Amino acid sequence: MAGVEGRVAFITGAGSGIGRATARVLAQGGADIVVTDINLAGAEETAQAVTELGRKALALRVDVSDLRAVETATAQAGQELGAIDILFSNAGIGTQVAFADMTEEDWDHMFDVHLNGTYHCFRAVLPEMKTAGWGRLISTSSMGAFTGGVRLAHYCAAKAGIAGLTVAMASELARSGITVNAVAPGVIDTPMVRQSPERWVKNMTKTIPMRKLGQPEDIAHAVVYLASEEAGFMTGQILSPNGGSYMKWC
Ligand SMILES: NC(=O)c1ccc[n+]([C@@H]2O[C@H](COP(=O)([O-])OP(=O)(O)OC[C@H]3O[C@@H](n4cnc5c(N)ncnc54)[C@H](O)[C@@H]3O)[C@@H](O)[C@H]2O)c1
Repeated sequence: MAGVEGRVAFITGAGSGIGRATARVLAQGGADIVVTDINLAGAEETAQAVTELGRKALALRVDVSDLRAVETATAQAGQELGAIDILFSNAGIGTQVAFADMTEEDWDHMFDVHLNGTYHCFRAVLPEMKTAGWGRLISTSSMGAFTGGVRLAHYCAAKAGIAGLTVAMASELARSGITVNAVAPGVIDTPMVRQSPERWVKNMTKTIPMRKLGQPEDIAHAVVYLASEEAGFMTGQILSPNGGSYMKWC
């Protein structure tokens, strides 16, 4: 199996949770990792884990809502680790606020990080992937884009936007050698979820047919599959590891 051996992956929000787990699993598969996050200390910790697995890592502070910062980082990554083969656009925030109390700033910030952040990353890495005639664009939607969520209108709308962007880009790039897919995680045990009250986490767990939260690695393995050579016929897909949460009668 070729997997992701010898590939260079650029991950956003890789200083924590799902991004960190994906960096590790990609490195275990033989990829070098550009570990980016708005939190440099977190990115550096992940990069350390990648180098301990025997792969190259470059830790960079990148705010995905800033197109120029993303472009600068992808250029630097290209010089230091080589052309980017795999993008995992994963950075995110989970701020909860009732729609009635939501400010325009709340709304804009959510879209800047998630939907605009994904657009910035796609835009920055695409030219080189087109030149190479091979690439994997993987974005992060959410189960919430399809199920909704209380106090999460801005989040669910931004995540639905990412799903639309992903499928549209997959259509546009269908014959280019570049696949475009998304993961739409269910409820995963990361710092983002743990910032919610314990009671909320318990109640959410009761709604999951498997009666447990997902682990970051559950998403990481889905991403690594989408990033692999073997997933070459998968495009325009939104993969949702969620413990069976789309099933109604459980
Ligand atoms: N945990 C879940 O249940 C769940 C469910 C569905 C979707 N998701 C999505 O998965 C992704 C990863 O979330 P997680 O659960 O690992 O959370 P997390 O909080 O552990 O990690 C998110 C990372 O994104 C970084 N980040 C935030 N704003 C940024 C910015 N502007 N630029 C760059 N980095 C930034 C944070 O510093 C953090 O390291 C997010 O897009 C999230 O919306 C998570």
